[in-house]
Amino acid sequence: MHAETTTSKICVDVAVKKWMKTVEKLVVLACAAFAASSLFLLCSLCFRFWEAVAGGALVGGDRSQGWGVQEVLKGEEDRGGADGCDLFDGKWVQDESYPLYESKNCAFIDEGFRCAENGRPDRLYTQWRWQPARCNLPRFDAKLMLEKLRNRRLVFAGDSIGRNQWESLLCMLSSAASANDDSVYEVNGKPITKHKGFLIFRFRDYNCTVEYYRAPHLVLRSRPPPDAPSPVKSVLRLDVMDRKSAGWRDADVLVVNTGHWWSHEKTIGSGCYFEEGGKVELQMSVESAYERSMKTFLDWIDKEINTSRTQVVFRTYSPAHSSKGDGKSGGKCHSETVPDFRSSYSLSKSWSHFLNPFTEQRMQNSTRSALKEIDVLNVTEMTAQRKDGHQSLYHVGPLSDARLHKEDCSHWCLPGVPDAWNELLYALFLRRDFKARVRP
Ligand SMILES: *[C@@H]1O[C@H](CO)[C@@H](O)[C@H](O)[C@H]1NC(C)=O
Ligand SMILES: *[C@@H]1O[C@H](CO)[C@@H](O)[C@H](O)[C@H]1NC(C)=O
Ligand SMILES: *[C@@H]1O[C@H](CO)[C@@H](O)[C@H](O)[C@H]1NC(C)=O
Ligand SMILES: *[C@@H]1O[C@H](CO)[C@@H](O)[C@H](O)[C@H]1NC(C)=O
Repeated sequence: MHAETTTSKICVDVAVKKWMKTVEKLVVLACAAFAASSLFLLCSLCFRFWEAVAGGALVGGDRSQGWGVQEVLKGEEDRGGADGCDLFDGKWVQDESYPLYESKNCAFIDEGFRCAENGRPDRLYTQWRWQPARCNLPRFDAKLMLEKLRNRRLVFAGDSIGRNQWESLLCMLSSAASANDDSVYEVNGKPITKHKGFLIFRFRDYNCTVEYYRAPHLVLRSRPPPDAPSPVKSVLRLDVMDRKSAGWRDADVLVVNTGHWWSHEKTIGSGCYFEEGGKVELQMSVESAYERSMKTFLDWIDKEINTSRTQVVFRTYSPAHSSKGDGKSGGKCHSETVPDFRSSYSLSKSWSHFLNPFTEQRMQNSTRSALKEIDVLNVTEMTAQRKDGHQSLYHVGPLSDARLHKEDCSHWCLPGVPDAWNELLYALFLRRDFKARVRP
């Protein structure tokens, strides 16, 4: 009995030991498999990370979407192509990591754009970023952009809203310049408050310039011909580019805008008529004059611009928000603190003809090649939703009584909406750079 028990106990012991060995083997195998898969995961993550960095910059914000920086950089093969990512189809999302800078830390902003310093009490308007529907924007990297602009010129040409955007970019870029106060300076020592003409800022450590040329109509405004009838005080020569355009020609990046000055009030209404082929056209409407100027602009690109060298970006119309036309003529927007996401609102008739400045019909006689070479920074629809972003009453310093001034519902507070345009400009800039490297 006893011996039998012992034998069976030994048998059981052996069985248990065998079983234990098997378990041990299994555990070792499982551990090995786990380690291998972890290593694989880690490697693929590293690769992804490297890919993102090599592709230009890290993706900012929401990573849950399937499309990343690569899709942004590749872009549409042709405009409207279904397999690319339309940067302008998207939505505003609140993001507390914004704004990208504070106006009090940036020396390059006109007093008028410094809303917070001028007493604007709310702040939410500085904390929205643009989120494209099918991809993520690259996070703005000032150092990388300056590096890519080394020995190059980035030129803005257009009206005061273009100047608004230019000042925004100066602030965004200067966050990466050296702490030295004099490392970013106007080459002719002109103060930023000077409104006419042009301003050229140099980033010394990168030998690059970021320039602004005032040209609200893009075409030439001049004295009327001697035989012009009396209501004609000045003319816009629709077939001649602004004289300063000679200075934009050799830019490496040229960001152009127009629109706000193509109103009745700022043309015919103030005695400024249209001239074409040396003849003043008293009957010509503002709309057709605008179309003709767009054609002149495209012809100019064809003739004067080497688009292998110069990236031409056309920034579309930036809507104003006031019941009565242009903000300066007495609209109201100072109580607006949140965006209005209803798209129907944005389809205001007063600027619908600015939405498609380059339609086929309009441009039928202009060479198509220029059109293909232009990057459209199509901010109109997204900007229409931002009635909260204007200067309203806060375009004058804190020492003067804002209530005595008219509201400004066409320019934008900085930091604010133009920063988002510049993040999109940055994406277009990286996209072009990427394409040039993939197939030079
Ligand atoms: C600085 O950039 C300009 C072009 O904008 C170039 O002509 C010049 O050679 C550059 N200077 C240096 C020192 O690289
Ligand atoms: C246009 O620019 C490219 C790139 O800088 C240059 O190689 C080419 O020679 C230029 N073409 C003309 C006609 O100047
Ligand atoms: C800009 O976007 C709007 C809305 O998506 C579109 O209707 C318009 O055609 C676009 N304009 C250009 C020039 O691409
Ligand atoms: C295009 O050119 C034709 C003939 O050259 C002319 O009749 C027509 O008016 C032009 N159209 C526009 C929009 O300029």
